[in-house]
Amino acid sequence: MSKQDTHFFNVFSVVLGLLVAFAILVFALARYVGRHEQNAQVLKDPMLQESVAGRVGLPARIAVAGQDNSALKIAPVSTATSTAVAVSFKSGTEVFEGACKACHGLGIAGAPKAGDHAAWAPRIAKGKSTLYEHALKGFQGTAGVMPPKGGRTDVSDDLIKAAVDHMTSL
Ligand code: HEC
Repeated sequence: MSKQDTHFFNVFSVVLGLLVAFAILVFALARYVGRHEQNAQVLKDPMLQESVAGRVGLPARIAVAGQDNSALKIAPVSTATSTAVAVSFKSGTEVFEGACKACHGLGIAGAPKAGDHAAWAPRIAKGKSTLYEHALKGFQGTAGVMPPKGGRTDVSDDLIKAAVDHMTSL
């Protein structure tokens, strides 16, 4: 090794050593700051505190006469929310958006993705009546499980068929 090489090697080693020392210093500093800030922040989170209180609290809450027991009141089930749950679909597009897209929108759980022509072509080739039947009665193929009517048995057969038409037309 020439003298120049030796010199370069020495300088290089020192620079490398300094960088490693600096990295260790930054790491130690980050740990030090993190221990005092990060965990304290997490513990102060009201949602965390609430969930901990829920887990370590008494299993039952008791109403005490003469005190404010309003927190224990059971919320009445309003008819407005119960009618909102049973959404009535009016078209195949609406059924698709509300009942089929959950799986077919992104191709969840093996469901053929709406608009993915390569995935749909072999299925469409089976014929519309087969697709209608599989959508209505459910279907277990190699890809996954298609639940009857996509789990919305409250929807009429005609609307499900319209949803199949809509999905295969995308
Ligand atoms: C829980 C997820 C899920 C929902 C919700 C869902 N599907 Fe599916 N669907 C699947 C899966 C998985 C397959 C693929 C089954 C296979 O080929 O293995 C499938 C396949 C299909 C097929 C093709 C069947 C065949 O013979 O190849 C049609 C048509 C279909 N779904 C229509 C619908 C319609 C219409 C809706 C809404 C009313 C819907 N799906 C909702 C999961 C779902």
